[in-house]
Amino acid sequence: MSIESAHVDPYLFEPVQLGPLTLPNRVVMAPLTRSRAKEADVPSELAIEYYAQRASAGLIIAEATQISPQGKGYVFTPGIYDAAQVQAWQPITAAVHKKGGHLFLQLWHVGRISHPSLQPGHALPVAPSAIKPEGQAYTDEGFVPLVTPRALETAEMAGIVEQYRVAAQNAQAAGFDGVEIHAANGYLLDQFLRDKTNRRTDQYGGSIENRARLLLEVADAVTDVWGGERVGVRISPLSSFGDIADSNPEPLFTHVVKQLNRRKLVYLHVIEGDTGGPREVPGGFDLQVLRQAFDGLFMANNGYDMPLAQSTLKAKRADLIAFGRPFISNPDLVERLRIGAPLNEPDKNTMYGGGAQGYIDYPTLEQEDKR
Ligand code: PHB
Repeated sequence: MSIESAHVDPYLFEPVQLGPLTLPNRVVMAPLTRSRAKEADVPSELAIEYYAQRASAGLIIAEATQISPQGKGYVFTPGIYDAAQVQAWQPITAAVHKKGGHLFLQLWHVGRISHPSLQPGHALPVAPSAIKPEGQAYTDEGFVPLVTPRALETAEMAGIVEQYRVAAQNAQAAGFDGVEIHAANGYLLDQFLRDKTNRRTDQYGGSIENRARLLLEVADAVTDVWGGERVGVRISPLSSFGDIADSNPEPLFTHVVKQLNRRKLVYLHVIEGDTGGPREVPGGFDLQVLRQAFDGLFMANNGYDMPLAQSTLKAKRADLIAFGRPFISNPDLVERLRIGAPLNEPDKNTMYGGGAQGYIDYPTLEQEDKR
C-alpha cells in the first residue's frame, strides 16, 4: 500500500516536555483494560509485546492496575501489590524503554464496583457509603449483579492511602516512568468525590473539601514517592460511568484541580463528557475552567479523531491527546495519524480476555504492505 502524505498540521507531532521526560509527540495511549492477566493478578507475558508494539506513542498509560486485592473489580486485571507482579511488569517496562517509549502505570482501586467473589475472603467490596451501584460485575462466573458495598470506617482510611503508597513504590521497582492516579469513572476515589455515592458524616464526606480529602491524601502519598513531576491524575467530572453523579460538579472539580495544582502534578487527564460515550452531556460545564486552574499539562480524552485532536491542540485547549480504542487495533497509530493512513477497527470479541488474538496481532502499515 502506498499513501500520499496528505497535508497534516504538525501540532500532534511536536515534542513536549512532561516533567523530566521529553515526549516525541503529543499522542498518548490511554489506559485500556484488556483482561489478560494470569493467576494472582500477574500481568501476562503477552503484555511485553503488546506494549512494545505501541512504544511510538509519546506516552503510554498502562491499563488500570489494582493497588491491592481489595481494589480488584474484574477478572483478569493485573495488580501492582506484590513481588511477583512487580517482577512480571519489569520486562514490560524494559521492552517499551528499549524502543524509546515512556510508560506510566494507572493506580486503581475500584471501591464498590466489585463483587464478593473477587474479594479476599469473599468479603463485601468497600465504598464511602453502603449504596448499591446499578450494573454488573465481570466475575469468574460471568456477569453478575453488583452488590451493596460496606462503608469504610474512618479508621480504615489511612490504610487505603497506604495501599496507594506501596503500589506507587512497587511501580518504581517495576521500572515505570511515573504513575497516574485513577480518580475517574466511578471507582473508589471518584465515589468519594461525588455526592451520589458519598453520604459520609466524617471528615471524608459532606463538604467539597471533605469529599476531596481522600484523593488529596493519595496525591500526597504518591508524590512523596515519585515527586509531582512523575504523577498525573485522571478525572471524569461529567461522566456517569459506574452509576455516578454529583449535584454540582463545577465547584467540586474546580476545588479538586486547584488543590492538585498545589501538589505540582505533571498532568491532568480529563475525560470529556461520558466515558466512551457522548462528549457533550446535559448539565455539563466548560472543562476549560479546569485547564485554567492547572499549571501542568492538560491531557484531553474521549472520542478524539485526527481533526478534533489537531483543532484542540491548535486552539491550545489541551497539551496532549489520549486515544483509547484506536490504539487497540493500530499499534503504529502515531505513524498512521502522521501520514493520514486508514485505521483498523478493533474487534469487539477480543477486547477483553483471551490471548494473543486481537491483542498482539493487529498489523502495522509496514506489515500490511508485505501481505
Ligand atoms: C473496564 O474494565 O471496563 C474499565 C476499567 C477502567 C476504567 C473504565 C473501564 O476506567
